[in-house]
Order: sequence, then C-alpha cells, then structure tokens
Amino acid sequence: MPNPLRDRLPRRRTPVRKAPVDRGRWFPADLLDGQPFARERLLVQGLPAPVRVAAIADFHARIDRPFPFPSLLATVRDQADLLLVAGDLTDNGRIEEFALVAWALHDAGVPVVVVPGNHDRRCLRRVAMRETLADAGVILLDGGSTIVTLPATDGTDRPVRLGIVGIGGYGGGFWPDEAGPRLPLHRATQAFAIRARREAARLDATLAAAPDDVDARLVLMHYSPTATTLGREPIVKYWMLGNVELARAIDRHHVDLVIHGHAHLGNPSGKTIGGTRVRNVATQVIGKPVVYDLVPGPVPAVEGGAK
Ligand SMILES: [Fe+2]
Ligand SMILES: [Fe+2]
Repeated sequence: MPNPLRDRLPRRRTPVRKAPVDRGRWFPADLLDGQPFARERLLVQGLPAPVRVAAIADFHARIDRPFPFPSLLATVRDQADLLLVAGDLTDNGRIEEFALVAWALHDAGVPVVVVPGNHDRRCLRRVAMRETLADAGVILLDGGSTIVTLPATDGTDRPVRLGIVGIGGYGGGFWPDEAGPRLPLHRATQAFAIRARREAARLDATLAAAPDDVDARLVLMHYSPTATTLGREPIVKYWMLGNVELARAIDRHHVDLVIHGHAHLGNPSGKTIGGTRVRNVATQVIGKPVVYDLVPGPVPAVEGGAK
C-alpha cells in the first residue's frame, strides 16, 4: 500500500566522503623544492650595524609523516645569524616530535629561539620537553627574555645586541579595537578571557623586566597581537587566533618588531593598534623561512615609525 507520507519525508542523503589526506604534500610545494628563503629589509632606528634574522613557525612535526625541514634548516647559517621559531613546532606535543624538530634546529648552526604554540602545549611531559630542546641547544622562551649578540653583516667589528622577549600568547579576540566578534558571555568564555588577560599581563611584565641595554628588541610569540595579519582567516575564528591585550602590552614598551605564527590563512605583514610592526611567519603563509635584514635607519611612518 502506498505511503501518503513518503514524499514528505526527508530524502536520505548519500554519506559525504572526505578526500584522503596526502600527508607528504601537506607543506607548500616550494618549501619542499628547497627554494631560497624569502627576504625583507626592515629599517630599525638606533641599530649600530645591519644584522640578519631568520624566522619561521608552525612546523607541526609528526612522527608518522615526512618532516621536510632538515635540509632546509641546515642552510640557515648561510642566510642568517639567528633563527626564531614562533611555535607549533610539533603537532601533538609528543617528546618524539620535539626530538625530531630540536635536532633539525640544532643543525641550523645558529642560535635558535623558540616559543611554544598551542599544539606544543598538548605536551603532558613539560620537563622532558624542556630537556629535549635544551639538549639540542634550543632556547625556549615562555614569559622570558634573552639577549643574542650577532655579528654585523657590513664587516664592522661592532656586534649587535638583540633583545628577544618570548611568550606563547593566547586567544580572546580583537573586539572592539579591531575586527572580529565579541566573545559571547558565558562561563567558558569568561575563563578564556581571564587567561587571555593573564597572558597579556605576563608579556607586559616580561617586557618591563627585560634588559634595555640592547640595540633592538623583538617580541616572539605564537598567537597574533593584531587582526591585520589574519588575512583569509574566517572572522568567527579570530577569538582563537590572538587578542588585542597582547598589542596593548607591546605598545606600552619599545618594540622594534613582533613575529608570530598560528594564523595559517593569514598574511605576512601588519601592525598593532599602536603601530608596532608585526610579521606572521607561519609556514603555511610564506611557504618558506623569512630572513629579515635589519638595517639602521629611521622607520617609515607607514611602518609604525610615527607613533
Ligand atoms: Fe599552527
Ligand atoms: Fe597554533
């Protein structure tokens, strides 16, 4: 007997099949091809001599897929005198993944400074993580600072003291100062906002305590302090990508350049609400490490020189 309701029932949908993930091609093709590093020249007021700083982020290393970086990192010494890695070294925060990355960074042959990303924070064995990085000579900063002395690239004897302040950072969003929605008010997001403010206060305190007898000061972090480097990231995800309190902490101090990762769909260049220069060095954005040629000179107003 025909069912009178049959035509009014929703049709069964065919199940959606996910495309298989080709883990070997997860990284951009030009990175795997070993193309030269990207370069950018940045004027820094008061710098006594030019220096070269390489930066990259978001390796997301796993032990079950090829890690395409060792040969590339081994060429860093020819391109720069310092390597900064802005978090997400690993995908799951496993010690084996940290060991894989740490020894590849060791082979870079230059001082390496890293900050933890949200994926690195999945690590449950924090002491072992720190020891693994330290054994390979990698400096891990999370609410700390260090000074690296770099040789001048113009042949002069004057070494350049670069101060680096490092912190993981946190989300929380950019409302109302920049784009993005306000966090909905309920218990979970209140806890989120508290942690965001705590992380910004930690950055503020670290910047205040960092030695100021340096020639230039960089902030290395995983989350973004601005929406201007979030590019094609969906606006509803902004609260997961950084927060404006981090920018307020940065703008209260003298900072020449902020380097972050985490925003895989972002764009390379932006600035904080106070005008401090910000660069997004996530591998998925640039496709390769970036070398910043820091050169003495007045910072152009469009780059944050006229605060
Ligand atoms: Fe990432
Ligand atoms: Fe991340």
